[in-house]
Amino acid sequence: MCLEFDDLVAQYNPIDIGNGFPNYNPPKHLLDALRDVTANDTSWRLHQYADFRGDPRLRRAIAKLSEPLIKRHIDADREVLVTIGAIQALDLVTKSFVNPGDEVIFFSPFFVQYEQIIRLEGGVPILVPLKTLNGQKPREANDLSFDRKELEAAFNNRTKMIWVNNPNNPTGKSFTEEELTFIGQLCEKHDVIIISDEVGQWYNYGGQPHVRLASLPGMWKRTITVVSGGKTFSNIGWRIGWAFGPEELLWGLAVGLSASVLAVPTPTQVAFAMALEVEIERLNTNQSYFSWLSTESMAKRDRFLKILNEMGVDAIKPNAGYFIVTNFTNIVNRIDLSLEKDTRTGFQLALWLIRQKGLSAFPGNLFYPTDQKDDSEFVLRMCFIKTDALIDKIEGILKNTFAVKANSS
Ligand SMILES: Cc1ncc(COP(=O)(O)O)c(C=O)c1O
Repeated sequence: MCLEFDDLVAQYNPIDIGNGFPNYNPPKHLLDALRDVTANDTSWRLHQYADFRGDPRLRRAIAKLSEPLIKRHIDADREVLVTIGAIQALDLVTKSFVNPGDEVIFFSPFFVQYEQIIRLEGGVPILVPLKTLNGQKPREANDLSFDRKELEAAFNNRTKMIWVNNPNNPTGKSFTEEELTFIGQLCEKHDVIIISDEVGQWYNYGGQPHVRLASLPGMWKRTITVVSGGKTFSNIGWRIGWAFGPEELLWGLAVGLSASVLAVPTPTQVAFAMALEVEIERLNTNQSYFSWLSTESMAKRDRFLKILNEMGVDAIKPNAGYFIVTNFTNIVNRIDLSLEKDTRTGFQLALWLIRQKGLSAFPGNLFYPTDQKDDSEFVLRMCFIKTDALIDKIEGILKNTFAVKANSS
């Protein structure tokens, strides 16, 4: 979501590769579950408030799915909270823990809403850059890391928490166990809470397996793990997410949820529970939807990378997630950008593509703090989880737009 873009998207109806969603349907068994739950469950309860902590069947399914992943028992009644998307969990975390002037550390580039959510509560974002430690250009996202001293220096007695987005949006970096352990040790030293935002956990392309922060020794007691139901079943429009962690940390979020929206809609929670129950049985098998997500998305990533490479666009190969960070600086002179007056390079290119070519990608500038936007490069973030037919269309648009004209020197 980018408010600056939403009006334009409504006006021009472009192909949307800015936002992070697929243009194909969720798994059939989830859609069947939603149909069945409304057709077969004739109880009036289905249409009334759910328990404010989430439908018990869904909480049980979430606990059962997550227990083997983090290698510990999870109390479905006390240690799971169902929210309106992962975003509400992040908002409730902030409302629950952050007072004006409190500092929240996170890595840049970052998911756009992080800065907004924290600032809305008067919190102060403290950014630590992800970068290559040898000063070279990153070829792939896992070339990025953080300077240990820089992270250490970010902690002080105003630090309330650190948010670790693993895998990182927008780059697709998966954090290593060693990096997460280092982060955890600093949090122990300064007694700081960790928010582990793992919305992209099912999109992993090998090399560095997804490591769950809450599974590392001693980390459970200070970690809230945030998960997106929408990224789990390709249905972000259902607006389901959840958080799990120790009861002491989750209780404030549960109160906040009850005081703001009372409860998450009931029928979709029940359908979600039914679909998760199916996936729990299939976990780590060829039938698993989560395995399918990685396999299928990796092929799409590779296709996107090939298209971009053929065009001469620099792209950081994502090792996880569903976005590619692309840099069009080398070839931007092939188009006439003078029609767009925005002086922020990424915005100028992104707005031009929407208005002139019907293609919407997000400007790279969005993913950096307000005072550190790099306006020298034409960087765009693109979502690659699209059908082959749509990727064909996107390839056609990009290649025609940036074709080298026969008579150009
Ligand atoms: C890193 C990150 N956190 C949270 C969210 C929000 O997820 P949801 O749609 O479940 O609210 C997103 C959505 O793209 C995201 O990229």
